[in-house]
Amino acid sequence: MSTIHLRTSIPGPRSQALMRRRNDAVPKAAYHATPVFVAKAEGAVVEDVDGNRLIDFAGGIGCLNTGHRAPSVVDAIRKQLDHFLHTSFNVLPYESYVRLAERLNELTPGNFPKKTIFVNTGAEAVENAIKIARFHTRRPAIISFEDAFHGRTYMTMAVTSKTHPYKAGFEPFPGDVYRIPYAYCFRCSYSLEYPRCEVHCARHIEDTFKRVVAAESVAAVIVEPILGEGGFVTPPDGFYSTLSEICRKYGILLIADEVQTGFCRAGATFACVRFGLEPDLITMAKSLSGGLPLAAVTGRAEIMDGPASGQLGGTFGGNPAACEAALAVLDVIDKENLNARANHLGGIFRKRAAEWQRRWELVGDVRGMGAMQALELVRSRVTREPADTETKEVAQFCYEHGLVTITAGSYGNVIRLLMPIVITDAQMDEALDVLEAALAAVSEKKAAAVQMA
Ligand SMILES: Cc1ncc(COP(=O)(O)O)c(C=O)c1O
Repeated sequence: MSTIHLRTSIPGPRSQALMRRRNDAVPKAAYHATPVFVAKAEGAVVEDVDGNRLIDFAGGIGCLNTGHRAPSVVDAIRKQLDHFLHTSFNVLPYESYVRLAERLNELTPGNFPKKTIFVNTGAEAVENAIKIARFHTRRPAIISFEDAFHGRTYMTMAVTSKTHPYKAGFEPFPGDVYRIPYAYCFRCSYSLEYPRCEVHCARHIEDTFKRVVAAESVAAVIVEPILGEGGFVTPPDGFYSTLSEICRKYGILLIADEVQTGFCRAGATFACVRFGLEPDLITMAKSLSGGLPLAAVTGRAEIMDGPASGQLGGTFGGNPAACEAALAVLDVIDKENLNARANHLGGIFRKRAAEWQRRWELVGDVRGMGAMQALELVRSRVTREPADTETKEVAQFCYEHGLVTITAGSYGNVIRLLMPIVITDAQMDEALDVLEAALAAVSEKKAAAVQMA
């Protein structure tokens, strides 16, 4: 506990001055979770412009599983800078794009021929996966899940669930999108309990085909193997086997959105593997390229080859520096055995979190897989009323004491762990000490307020 102290300098004078300029120059819609401006970063630690050191449990929203400035990733980018920076793969192709596609085709789950196309962002990958699925099936409808997040472009807003801040005010969205409940056992939409429910949420999709949209109109079901922005909700055994069996039965494609779960976060290079899921199409981005913008769609070769030349792509898709960075990321995953490391970190967290759950009513649910772990905070274990204000207070306490965290969940009441998987055990312990102190402070404040009332 000795390392926990209030950094009176967070946000410091330089961050405050920059924030004033930011407010004048940048619209408020470009959100920032902390009012701290960064100066440099290494591994799992960032230093702000006032010289404060913070442990990073956000990793640029899950983009830095291999850490800030992983040395071999930086080297790969540097080398590429000396050759060429951009030609557009659509004009003058280059080998790194092809090599990375070959490696992702090999690495992704499913023992069948695959192909990969590169784009720039997670949302763009989702857009393309939906284009490809509609083209292949010649069907219009897409089914997505409650509490899902797939991006901020129009089609990805349509398949996203959370209204504020992502969708409200931007309506109307593209049509033929239907939403069904996810396997959110802590808040089951059908008030059932696992395993007695026999994964009713997955089986219920056949009812949707009768009452909402005909199966033969559905091109694809898009699903995050574990919800990201939706609060790290982790489906139980049987959910994906049932879902994929139903999709197969009706000729519906399964798109796994691995943008947040991919590249070891859940203790496997792709979270699908943890569930024995072999999707037809996989979208990926974030930690794929160690901090540069790069995204991909990998899928069954015959599906990916549907659209004709020029129907997919874009000017910057598969930027050469980003491709080289991604190839280096894949090597780091292998060399440093990041999947085992993710599971180790998850174990450290779960041990501490089980104790927090015993101590504080506030900690309603502890869940996750590998290093994709979260706490869902509630005002009461009985009502499970989401503790959204308290979650913000926990996050604020954390950054004021040297730990950057980000929240999640449709009710804004989840603290999620997205630290670099290369974080050391000592840094992990230090960060969890801060999180523990935050939970203690917020719980004590709540208890004091109850006594006063
Ligand atoms: C599962 C998932 N899909 C898609 C996206 C959108 O990615 P991007 O912000 O790169 O467009 C995100 C971003 O958080 C995500 O978590």
